[in-house]
Amino acid sequence: MNALTLVHAVAARHVKKGDICVDATAGRGYDAAFLAELVGDDGQVVAFDIQQEAIDSAAALLASRGLSARLIKDSHANMDAYLEEGSVSLIMFNLGYLPGGDHSVFTHFESTREAIEKGLKLLKSGGLMCVSVYYGGDSGYEERDALLPYLKALDDGKYQVIEAAFYNWKKDPPISFFITKL
Ligand SMILES: C[S@@+](CC[C@H](N)C(=O)[O-])C[C@H]1O[C@@H](n2cnc3c(N)ncnc32)[C@H](O)[C@@H]1O
Repeated sequence: MNALTLVHAVAARHVKKGDICVDATAGRGYDAAFLAELVGDDGQVVAFDIQQEAIDSAAALLASRGLSARLIKDSHANMDAYLEEGSVSLIMFNLGYLPGGDHSVFTHFESTREAIEKGLKLLKSGGLMCVSVYYGGDSGYEERDALLPYLKALDDGKYQVIEAAFYNWKKDPPISFFITKL
């Protein structure tokens, strides 16, 4: 089990055919492809990335698997311009930098926070947001250090926030959060 397989297992339990899902950090397209399979032909996956390299890479992966997603080269902080409030079943964030890409381009707390706030409005009630935080190394600790208290402070009358940690992993273990809109 790693953070990716954990999140995919939870997502597979939650997402139904015909759903609308968002991949907030498209990267190489593995999450978008996974979600596209879950939603099937009647559903829709909308995926965001700020790097053309990621968009191209994700498009190639999806095409190679005969899958489709709407790939948008824009910040996830603007996701509300593309989706309707209350329409989305699941939103996935895999924070950090593009694997095999430019390590100086990575997610930052301010835009991540804005995207989470907007994403929570886009979710249906009962919808799920999965946020995996990768940190340390080239991307440092700024995002993790600001995100943890932000998520801890989310209103417990409106959201359930579950944290999954790799508890005995010594060096910079990823942390996955599962936020349900009640
Ligand atoms: C860890 S990778 C995502 C991995 C991806 N989900 C996959 O399946 O391969 C993080 C991605 O977030 C992207 N990113 C950074 N800031 C962003 C932003 N403000 N909006 C959308 N994507 C962003 C990076 O370009 C990078 O491709």
